[in-house]
Amino acid sequence: MILITGGAGYIGSHTIIELHNAGYDFIVYDNFSNSSKESLNRVSKIIKKDILFEEGDIRDSITLKKVFKKYNIASVIHFAGLKAVGESVKNPLSYYDNNVVGTIKLLEVMKEFNCKKIVFSSSATVYNEVDTKKFTPLKESSPTGKTTNPYGTSKYMIEEILKDLFKSDNTFKITILRYFNPVGAHESGTIGEDPNEIPNNLMPFISQVAVGKKEFLNVFGNDYDTKDGTGVRDYIHVVDLAKAHVKAMDYLDSLLINNKPLIVNIGTGLGSSVLKMIEAFEKASNKKIPYKITQRRAGDIAKYYSDSSYAKEILGWSATKTIDEMCEDSWKWQKNNLNVNKERS
Ligand code: NAD
Ligand code: UFG
Repeated sequence: MILITGGAGYIGSHTIIELHNAGYDFIVYDNFSNSSKESLNRVSKIIKKDILFEEGDIRDSITLKKVFKKYNIASVIHFAGLKAVGESVKNPLSYYDNNVVGTIKLLEVMKEFNCKKIVFSSSATVYNEVDTKKFTPLKESSPTGKTTNPYGTSKYMIEEILKDLFKSDNTFKITILRYFNPVGAHESGTIGEDPNEIPNNLMPFISQVAVGKKEFLNVFGNDYDTKDGTGVRDYIHVVDLAKAHVKAMDYLDSLLINNKPLIVNIGTGLGSSVLKMIEAFEKASNKKIPYKITQRRAGDIAKYYSDSSYAKEILGWSATKTIDEMCEDSWKWQKNNLNVNKERS
């Protein structure tokens, strides 16, 4: 059985569908700090099966141990953590506590129960900024660690902790997935990204403009050294991303010996600008997305996207969904779930 920490969240809820489809058994462990049981109810309807879950915090070793005692947990997919960059600057201790301390507590319990397989959710944010003029798609070997905010630093620190853990005990089987920019939603339109507050990220913001919750989108700068001057990112459909976790699990299960933790980029290998995303969303929703060009957002990088060839080589995974599909599915989710936050209990 796989323990899915943070399985009620945005990426976790999509991943459990794909794990179910692939025949894996799992149990979700979540403190619902940024999600609700409603997302598990909805996944349950999609897969037509009850979902095993235990409410708890990864920092709470006592509850975690009870879960490991109760179920025969062979591996962990570790999504649980906080992820808002701006909030991490305001509350760094809470980010280091949830993300870094939480992961250490989880690893301690795993070790105690001789559970040594883990897939960890890292982020492209661990890569150092590259001068746009010298930019080449980011490879797993590209330099990392010059992070610009506590969230990014927490991801980098966890990667280092996992590498050290492996050095101390090479029976651990570790996969670190570096996600690029996950967007979109399940095709059913019943689960998706559900920000509590004003969204910081581009896609949820565009969706809220399309649905009339926000008047216009601020485009943070059009004077970058990119084709149309706006920021370029590697957007990846969350269902493609979810499928990468199944491949990562298959890979870990097939490993007899491993030489080092596996680190893999999960992106499409393509870059799209803010204006391109607006255009794609307008097409998908048949709505005008009013926008204003404003100042650059502090800390933003002009352009980055992945070299995604290693994922194909090592995991046999590559993204298949286009930005049009990402926008169509985001739109379907947004228009069906205008007041989803009210369903939180
Ligand atoms: P999310 O907030 O939707 O999901 C995270 C889940 O973890 C939530 O259900 C939350 O309630 C739970 N959680 C948080 N702290 C916890 C704790 N201490 N104990 C137990 N549960 C806890 O976020 P997401 O977008 O699904 O992201 C999942 C993972 O992927 C995170 O680690 C995130 O940092 C990483 N990631 C996300 C993105 C992105 O843009 N969404 C990009 C790169 C990496
Ligand atoms: N943008 C706007 N207006 C908005 C929001 C965003 O113009 O209202 C622009 C940004 O300037 C950037 C692009 O849209 O050029 C994407 O911005 P996001 O905030 O959606 O994504 P980021 O790449 O800045 O950051 C995200 C997550 C990080 C994560 C990183 C890599 O927020 O946590 O992807 O995975 F680390």
